[in-house]
Amino acid sequence: MVNETVVNKPKPTATIVVGGAWGDEGKGKIASRAAQDADLVIRATGGANAGHTIVWNGKKIALHLVPGGIVNPQTICFIGQGVVVDLDVLYKEIIQLEDMGVPNVRERLKISGRAHLVLPYHKELDELYEKLKNTPVGTTKKGIGPAYEDKDKRIGIRMYDILREYDELKMLVEQALRVHNILLRSTSEKESLFKALWKETITINLMSYVHDFETMIVDGDHLVEKFCANGKKIVVEGAQAYRLDKDFGDYPDVTSSNCVTAGALIGGHLNHKDVKEVIVVLKAYFSRVGNGVFPTEQQAHIENDEVYYYDPREGFIGDLIRDLGHEYGATTGRPRRTGWFDAVLVRSSKRALGADYLCINHLDTLGKIGKHLGYVKMCYAYQYQGDIIERFPDDINITGEVPTPLYRTIKGGWDVSSDVREFEELPENAQEFIKMIERETGIPVKYIGVGPDNDDLIVREDV
Ligand code: IMP
Repeated sequence: MVNETVVNKPKPTATIVVGGAWGDEGKGKIASRAAQDADLVIRATGGANAGHTIVWNGKKIALHLVPGGIVNPQTICFIGQGVVVDLDVLYKEIIQLEDMGVPNVRERLKISGRAHLVLPYHKELDELYEKLKNTPVGTTKKGIGPAYEDKDKRIGIRMYDILREYDELKMLVEQALRVHNILLRSTSEKESLFKALWKETITINLMSYVHDFETMIVDGDHLVEKFCANGKKIVVEGAQAYRLDKDFGDYPDVTSSNCVTAGALIGGHLNHKDVKEVIVVLKAYFSRVGNGVFPTEQQAHIENDEVYYYDPREGFIGDLIRDLGHEYGATTGRPRRTGWFDAVLVRSSKRALGADYLCINHLDTLGKIGKHLGYVKMCYAYQYQGDIIERFPDDINITGEVPTPLYRTIKGGWDVSSDVREFEELPENAQEFIKMIERETGIPVKYIGVGPDNDDLIVREDV
């Protein structure tokens, strides 16, 4: 009997794709590729603060909640319990996908009944909290933090709740508003007290979605278990990234979910035995939106979200990287802060992410940056509090000291055609850049992005 159990033990089939820095690394590209023959694609954390562009029959659409795997007609897409769902956003995405001709969207999209909802008062609270903070986080204002906070307070409203009777649902909304009003009363922002009437309009809006969503709401454990038990291929499309994780990241300049590998498991109704591989996605240079430490950041002219284009006379490298990499937020349109690749940060992410492979996107863009400047750089250590250190300092937001990066320099830039599919066909200094990442981080680079499209990717099968 015992032997039989061992023999029947299903092999792990889940590929987890997570961000290795501060988000916007191009996770959608590798996730879409991995999802081409996937049976189940899961979105596990975050909400409409994330976003990536997908292409269907030459048409582009920015998705914030529906997993990108929806473009593969055989794939079931699942929004797991760790996601906070904004039904207005999700509904619009479904309609857009249907208008584009993506088949059977409603049949193939499933949502965990345990996923919590983002409601209008969460967005107002997001704005208000930012106003009340000494140093705002620079959130996306999508209501993400307050929605997770309600989950912790046990006043959150879940997908399952929209199936309740009107009066029951209204009582839940009323309860949440009551709790929030206690807090609001003690601030000077009295005008923002939530009005009693809101419970009616919010409840009516939620109930208007029952017809559209009731068949999509599922018992997530049961759904995922069926795929795991049958050895089906699963891909988890991570959202946000290592240093935005609320535990591992640069607290308080973080998002409100656990967006590292363990968070992707909980949010996706998986456990560690389901994991086949973890792919950590990065860019050949780094970027960040919102506030917080960014040791390898390069000087740029961004003031009040105003963008200044790269001016060779001023020579702000941050502007050059942003221009060449088109680094503007997919969700908010904000210009991103930019800087050099930071191997210290990636080395330090091993505990949180458990990477099997790295995917390095924008190698072509870094080549162009190098051609402008005559060199590219990679940070291999920091000078911090009088020492040379090789790990990201854990107390970075306590000391207030920004580490000074120590760089290795590679001369020149490179031209990489988006058609290149073999590592050996890359220019020598581009190959050296990738090998340097492997040496400095100890993690193999299996995937290399060489252009904007999903197929513009080198896959090193021998890695
Ligand atoms: P929130 O997730 O909207 O609460 O924002 C918290 C921090 O995470 C802010 O600095 C945001 O800019 C950042 N953030 C949230 N989602 C993303 C993302 O998908 N990409 C990059 N940064 C993000």
